Amino acid sequence: MKPDLLLVGNVSPRMRGRLDAEFTVHPLPDEPARANFLAETGPKITACCTTIGLTTEVMDALPNLKIVSSYGVGYDSIDAAHAADRGIIVTHTPNVLNDEVANTAILLWFATARKLVAYDRYVREGRWEREGAAPLTASPQNRTVGIVGLGRIGLAIAERLGVFGATVVYHSRSKKDAPYAFYPDLVEMARACDVLICITPGGPGTRHIINAEVIDALGPEGILVNVARGSVVDEAALIKALQEGRLGGAGLDVFEEEPKVPSAFFGMDNVTLQPHVGSATHATRQAMGDLTCDNLSQYLKDGTALTPVPE
Ligand code: DGY
Repeated sequence: MKPDLLLVGNVSPRMRGRLDAEFTVHPLPDEPARANFLAETGPKITACCTTIGLTTEVMDALPNLKIVSSYGVGYDSIDAAHAADRGIIVTHTPNVLNDEVANTAILLWFATARKLVAYDRYVREGRWEREGAAPLTASPQNRTVGIVGLGRIGLAIAERLGVFGATVVYHSRSKKDAPYAFYPDLVEMARACDVLICITPGGPGTRHIINAEVIDALGPEGILVNVARGSVVDEAALIKALQEGRLGGAGLDVFEEEPKVPSAFFGMDNVTLQPHVGSATHATRQAMGDLTCDNLSQYLKDGTALTPVPE
């Protein structure tokens, strides 16, 4: 008999095919059916595959759960410490999305610095023909760029920055073995930077680390890029700074209340918005899906996992 797996969120047909081959798959129903489902089926479930995290309430309704395989590198929507206490393995999908997310960070920076959104509008609205050449922008060449979180993706961003003559500096919890200047103090780093790129993990430890003080230190010519988690940036402080001209611009892939995005951003030409698509290409999402399933297959084979989350 196949083991029972709880499926949380939507998966591609390819992923669903792989899950069905090895497990009896139970999609998590919405309320009001959820409570009954968990009471009746919860005790049978030994594995979980999720694309949108797992609440502790649902996790704790699964007394025999052994593994949660999460699609994505960030796992802030799963209480991994609680899972570890219960002896549950949590896995994620590191590395396979490094290049895609790093490319997205550069894209958002350049789109914001070179006013891609404003220029696109300028052309579509016929203003080029009516008003002539569009206004110039500052150059992104030879800038000081601060990376907030020098993990795998942060390093992939840093590698790309060399091409643009950037001076790369970074802030993270601890100094890394990397050829870039380390700033233990984020405000001090922001003061030295033209651009800040956030790629630090989400969760309580990094909530609102980009606050009004950091934004003011970055200043009216500065650009903030966030490809990490919405929770990392104090969005209200960011909006206020943009409205008051205290920050030059922002390139944002993530938001505090996704998929809700504050409408205050919509009228701002110096802001580039994306619907959390940093890793969203066919190839990368397929690789993430494959690794999510590979972790489950490995667990069935020998009780271990390929890419468990760090302790
Ligand atoms: C991740 O993998 O954490 C990305 O944000 C995509 O969800």
